[in-house]
Amino acid sequence: MTTQAVIIEPIRRPFPALKYQAWHRMIHPYYTKQPSNVVGEYIRHFCPQGGLVVDPFCGSGVTAIEALTSRRSAICMDLDPLAVFITRQTCLAPVDLNAYWEAYHQVEREMKPIVEFVRNASTRELEDYEITEWYPKGVKLPSNADRGYVEGLFDRRQLIIFAHLHSAIMRMPNEQARGLLLLAFSASLAIANKMSKYDRKRGGGTCGVFIVYRYWVPPYPSYRDAWDVFKVRARLVANAKKKSNEIFGDFVREGETFSVYRDSAESLLKCVDEKSVDYIYTDPPYGAHIAYLDLGTMWHAWLGFEVTDGMRAREAIEGGEQQFDEKHYLDVLQKSFEQMFYALKDDAWLSLVFHHKETRLWYSIRDMLRYSGFEYVNCVAQPLSYKTFHKIKNPLRVLGESLIVNFQKTAKRKISQPMSLPMANLIKNVAERVIYRGGGATTEEILREVVPELLDDDLFIDAAAKNISDILAILDSDFELDNNNMWQIRAGRKLGNFIEPRKRIRYYVMRYLHKVGKANFDEIVTFILPRLINGHEPTKEDIDDVLKEVAVSHDGINWELKKPEELAEQGELPLFETAAEYVAEIPASTTHNQQIYRLALLCQKAGLVPYIGRQERSDPMLARLKPLTQLNIKVEPEKMRRIEQIDIIWATADGSPVWAFEIEEHTPILSALERFSALLDATPELGHRHQVTIVAPKTRRRKLNQELTTSSYIGRPAYLETKISYIFAEDLEKEFNKLTTRASIRGEELHSICHFPTGSETGGRE
Ligand SMILES: C[S@@+](CC[C@H](N)C(=O)[O-])C[C@H]1O[C@@H](n2cnc3c(N)ncnc32)[C@H](O)[C@@H]1O
Repeated sequence: MTTQAVIIEPIRRPFPALKYQAWHRMIHPYYTKQPSNVVGEYIRHFCPQGGLVVDPFCGSGVTAIEALTSRRSAICMDLDPLAVFITRQTCLAPVDLNAYWEAYHQVEREMKPIVEFVRNASTRELEDYEITEWYPKGVKLPSNADRGYVEGLFDRRQLIIFAHLHSAIMRMPNEQARGLLLLAFSASLAIANKMSKYDRKRGGGTCGVFIVYRYWVPPYPSYRDAWDVFKVRARLVANAKKKSNEIFGDFVREGETFSVYRDSAESLLKCVDEKSVDYIYTDPPYGAHIAYLDLGTMWHAWLGFEVTDGMRAREAIEGGEQQFDEKHYLDVLQKSFEQMFYALKDDAWLSLVFHHKETRLWYSIRDMLRYSGFEYVNCVAQPLSYKTFHKIKNPLRVLGESLIVNFQKTAKRKISQPMSLPMANLIKNVAERVIYRGGGATTEEILREVVPELLDDDLFIDAAAKNISDILAILDSDFELDNNNMWQIRAGRKLGNFIEPRKRIRYYVMRYLHKVGKANFDEIVTFILPRLINGHEPTKEDIDDVLKEVAVSHDGINWELKKPEELAEQGELPLFETAAEYVAEIPASTTHNQQIYRLALLCQKAGLVPYIGRQERSDPMLARLKPLTQLNIKVEPEKMRRIEQIDIIWATADGSPVWAFEIEEHTPILSALERFSALLDATPELGHRHQVTIVAPKTRRRKLNQELTTSSYIGRPAYLETKISYIFAEDLEKEFNKLTTRASIRGEELHSICHFPTGSETGGRE
């Protein structure tokens, strides 16, 4: 029997967000909680029953709760110990509620006298009261807080109650009950403090931290009795745990069906095995909005959670106390996505919640995931609460909602090493610029300009770890190779960081007219419009203006490009090479040495180092090229002396010969054969590749043929005719003019102009 892979369709519609119906809603406040029922729908759709769901940025643990509810295992991570604490306590099951209430009543009894004292004491008595119980003293709040220290966030009465309450809870022997009472305590800290503001609409208090994302003390805080608040929170925790007992049954077993780790999402593979995860639903931080670790300071201090500098350095945020920039934020996300890629099974799905107001980041994040090997499938505008639920046509225009973006792991990565977004963007920017300037560009031309920019941006070390195919994969996503092997901008790509709209129109008009010769206005507009969809669609007038600048119409119907000289006079960029052949300038010297010079430059473009014959090396033109003066070969001195007279040898950096050339303008060709024969004794592989080559003018064709068929090196024992090749000097010059405009070449490209004594006379290697 064959098993067929189940094909999962993406989710294409939003669900009504029933946030207020979630049983865990009131257990503890947290930032941007996901609508639980929506997360549940995604999990049941994308993860098979009994499968494993992961959330590496779990926050208050909604993904885990929904996974466990639907009988999927859950592994969660968060950098913030507070998030890990809330998630663990919320998912904890089954809970012994009798033991919980017993512990609560014990705490209540112990707290009674101090609660009474605080409620009846005068201000003076409160001031004079010495708090003997532990509370966090001298713990600094973030610099944007309205108070300097954690204790400054509480009224004296709140501080006294919380100090006693904390100690009473910590004395409870039942670990499970203690943990849950601490959860109620922690939730109370968020309410009974100086940041509390009465919310008329909701009829309760809201805390500045969750409204403005900093420790904000309103001008008229509403005082909340700490013990009353705790009493309510303790009941809410009990209610929630009663519900979780019913929902989870005995399915939750920490370390088996459920785990939560306090670590960075960048370390996901420490917590899950490669290719073991069926589905990831995650809601990473929104960049610059919320600095979770800074905002957690009050809770960390009270609950004894250590937050080290190392942890802070890993937070996926912009700004905060560490003043992180966008690059840091995207770097952490990039590393996390990379881990998610490896953790997922082939073809598994990743749903990512995206809530940035900055649409630009949307593209960055989508691209990062693509570069990590994920395939972008679709995105759904998902309202966060029922009230705002309405039909939305264009998700990207309505970021008041959140987007759920669905990706699928492609079985094969396109890119061997993950590419950081700044690097990928830089490559794209530079490529766009070079293509625009030249009306198309070869890979080498793009690379030649990419490298210095990577260096300028301190990205070169990163780049060194990549290989060329990674860069090609980046180019491939936004550019395409035309028939001449030149990169062009793909239709409909949203690039344009670099080129202003007007220039972009000009680029397409010139490219199109260059290609087709003549075209009427409608044809031109039809070609251009789909290529300019990136937010600045041109009007017909824009195109008309550009046409007038760069084209002429002789028949009143069709447009054609102005002559290159005319465009140049107008100061237009020389977008396309003219038909005239490029003739490189060679310094004055003998024609013999000029040929050596040409070969030496090609050698360098091929990434090799020229060795230049002893005699020729004294020519200043050739000396300037800093040729090798020694070859890395072992041969008797007699033969070495002959080899050293070879005009030019292309060699690797360590002096190993790769290709040898003799320029034979007038000299007897026999001496060249003699030198080559010595070289072949030391490096026979050059002969196998026909890379011992005579360069001679076409007028010497007969002489060449004669020497290459009758000399003593032909036939037994040397068989030089099977190893040697020759190039006509005229062909070399032409080829040089062509290749020299390129940043780099492959040495073997010269084979296209080589002739072989026993092969065809038309050139080309057989
Ligand atoms: C938007 S919140 C998640 C909220 C969650 N969806 C919920 O419903 O509660 C993002 C979370 O990412 C966490 N975080 C930030 N940097 C992290 C990192 N490098 N690794 C793991 N978690 C990180 C924050 O502490 C925060 O809890």
